[in-house]
Amino acid sequence: MAGVTDAIFRGICKEMGADVMVTEFVSAEGILQADARTRKYTEFSEQQRPVGVQLFGADGARMGEAARKIVDWKQPDFIDINFGCPVNKVVARNGGSSLLKDCAMLAAVAAGVVRAVGGQVPVTAKMRIGWDAQSINAVEVAKVLVDCGVRVIAVHGRTRAQGYGGEANWEVIDAVARAVAVPVIGNGDIASGADLARRKRETAVAGVMIGRAAMGNPWVFREAKRFLASGQTPAPVLLEQRWDLVVRHCRLAVESGRYGNERQTLTSMRTRLMAYCKGFPGAKELRQKLCHVVAVGEVEELAAISIGQAELAGL
Ligand SMILES: Cc1cc2nc3c(=O)[nH]c(=O)nc-3n(C[C@H](O)[C@H](O)[C@H](O)COP(=O)(O)O)c2cc1C
Repeated sequence: MAGVTDAIFRGICKEMGADVMVTEFVSAEGILQADARTRKYTEFSEQQRPVGVQLFGADGARMGEAARKIVDWKQPDFIDINFGCPVNKVVARNGGSSLLKDCAMLAAVAAGVVRAVGGQVPVTAKMRIGWDAQSINAVEVAKVLVDCGVRVIAVHGRTRAQGYGGEANWEVIDAVARAVAVPVIGNGDIASGADLARRKRETAVAGVMIGRAAMGNPWVFREAKRFLASGQTPAPVLLEQRWDLVVRHCRLAVESGRYGNERQTLTSMRTRLMAYCKGFPGAKELRQKLCHVVAVGEVEELAAISIGQAELAGL
């Protein structure tokens, strides 16, 4: 997830039990221009494997070249192609979900990447169910991708037109899972072990992908696994443990230097901090304060106040 699943956050998700992770998406052109920032997005540590690097672009040959470069640099466990991004900047250049409208171009992109690196690493794809409600074509697209040699398909059950609104359509995800012989991973609105178990029970998916729920609650992976194993929902994570993780995440980000100095790092982390404090007691006031933090020490102070207030209130 762009702006979310950097190497630091992936490390946290791995600790919490995530099985397979994917980098933030990177543009094939950025990779080919050896842009340092783009290259940074592809970083991962050995402990994070299996990790896929996700690429977007609209030209099969260029995408293939970029995939080859990444495989040479990093030997990721797979290369994933993005056919889901709804963002105008990407769509306007025929990338992401816009390829769902043009199966010939989509096939050229998938085949270009498979031709370039398919002999070394599996090529996977992530797609939405269609461009809009009038053109839901996920089954057709999935068949095209499999014919091109794509080995796993993740389906986010929304159209491009939906953005992130409305509900994910798991009926279409199920139809895709039943239509193709490769594993299909279902995605959309999974926030707990119970959600995951239901989708696994009711559909033919081989696995499930969790996105936004992990942003504020990376424990979701551990909880979901426990639920699958025992049918029990574990006790909620304590506020103190949540804050410990928030502070640790901030520290790791500052130490990494990847977002500049401490002030720049904390500024770039504000949306992440907002996500973490969703559901905390006094979340509204906290959010107002977190919008201004520029040092890890300030986050620690807010944590101490928040924990103290919750204790006083008997929460
Ligand atoms: C901030 C943000 C960034 C995202 N970036 C990517 C991305 O780079 N590649 C991708 O395939 N999906 C991306 N997504 C979509 C998610 O992977 C996922 O498909 C979507 O959020 C639905 O799943 P969820 O309901 O579990 O969040 C992004 C979503 C969000 C909210």
